[in-house]
Amino acid sequence: MSQREFMEAVDLLNHTGPGTALGELLRRYWVPVMHARDLSDPWAEPVRVKLLNEPLIVFKDTTGRIALLQEFCAHRRASLYFARNEGEDCADGHPGLRCPYHGWKYDVTGQCIDMPNEPANSRFKQHVKLTSYPCVERGGMIWAYMGKPEEMPGLPDLEWAVVPNEHRYVSRRLEKVCFTQAMEGGIDSSHASILHADTALWADYGPLGESDAKQPLMNGDTAPRFFIEPTDYGLLIGARRNTPDGRYYWRITQWLMPWYTFIPRTSADAPISGHAWVPIDDETCWAWSMTYHPDRPLTQAEIDHCESGHGIHVLHIPGTELAAQNESNDYGMNRVFQRHMLSISGIDGVAAQDQAMQESMGPRFEPALESLGSSDSAIVAARRRLIAEARALAEDSTMVPSNLDPQLHRVRSASAVLTTDESWLDATYDQRRALTKYYA
Ligand code: FES
Ligand SMILES: [Fe+2]
Repeated sequence: MSQREFMEAVDLLNHTGPGTALGELLRRYWVPVMHARDLSDPWAEPVRVKLLNEPLIVFKDTTGRIALLQEFCAHRRASLYFARNEGEDCADGHPGLRCPYHGWKYDVTGQCIDMPNEPANSRFKQHVKLTSYPCVERGGMIWAYMGKPEEMPGLPDLEWAVVPNEHRYVSRRLEKVCFTQAMEGGIDSSHASILHADTALWADYGPLGESDAKQPLMNGDTAPRFFIEPTDYGLLIGARRNTPDGRYYWRITQWLMPWYTFIPRTSADAPISGHAWVPIDDETCWAWSMTYHPDRPLTQAEIDHCESGHGIHVLHIPGTELAAQNESNDYGMNRVFQRHMLSISGIDGVAAQDQAMQESMGPRFEPALESLGSSDSAIVAARRRLIAEARALAEDSTMVPSNLDPQLHRVRSASAVLTTDESWLDATYDQRRALTKYYA
């Protein structure tokens, strides 16, 4: 690859707005927007959100229809965050959002339905429509589709999204880093035995099952060998470590286009965890963290563990979705622990450790400044796939990106200790199938 081609690829990965190659690719998928519980009131107030570099508001009308609307009024661009949610019992009898500046009113499709500052016989309002993206509620979350209506795929069939609410704990935190940089932390298995080597020392060692610290991967082999299988959904990644008794410890994870990653469950009945890394703009993203059980409700101890900021979840600043351990306090780093204990980071908590490293790399993706080795082969493969599909779509709008078929979402990550002659693909085939009975 020439220097020019390399810089073009970097530029592609750093831009997710409308009209950009990566942005157009991402708009082919359903996008996690917010917790559904934050929009449960029929008189829900508009919620400001920014996604894929677009300033938007979530609007739920009093009949329960939900959409993402462009944030700014089509008239003089006042923010519709300040708009009034009017129900069927209002003066004109139509549910909609009324801009408080000059009173223009919009329905959930973005259509302007009232212009009280224009003559009553004016037809102007029929020609005014806001950008509106359809939303659905699924898996305790609101999802939006921001692409062309005729290309809308089926709803996400990730296992965590189809189990009942009692089977699932979901949190999210704001990360001040582009989504690719954050997501690559979810793909990169080699850091688990370094950055998270101390998990047994902290309270992360809890009811969600055996800590990684107890797995053979911590018994000295910190240099996993990577095996990567391109698939219809993205990548299947096998990270192989040697065990002290001469076998292999495999951690097998998937990267599902365009932003889903998974973490191997740590015992047969343990909950399963995964992430969605969703761009807010080109320098911030939402790190959605999901812990679920495919077959049973989470126990109170498991929920308490997540809620108290352990495992892949963080403690939030109350009333926010900002991690309490953040850049302003060096993520709670303790130099004494760092000096005297197994922890190399001195930071308490898997998620805080991840966030600290991901944000410390800077908000933008800077591959020219990196020195990638063999342990980075999975993230390189994911970058190449995103670049290749974004370019292919930019060149041919009829190209069909990977992982649009919801059937492909039905996967689970896996781990196994195998003899050296066993096939990691064959031996983990059953473990990797998502089989919850809640699939329709
Ligand atoms: S800016 Fe919204 S009605 Fe004028
Ligand atoms: Fe991590």
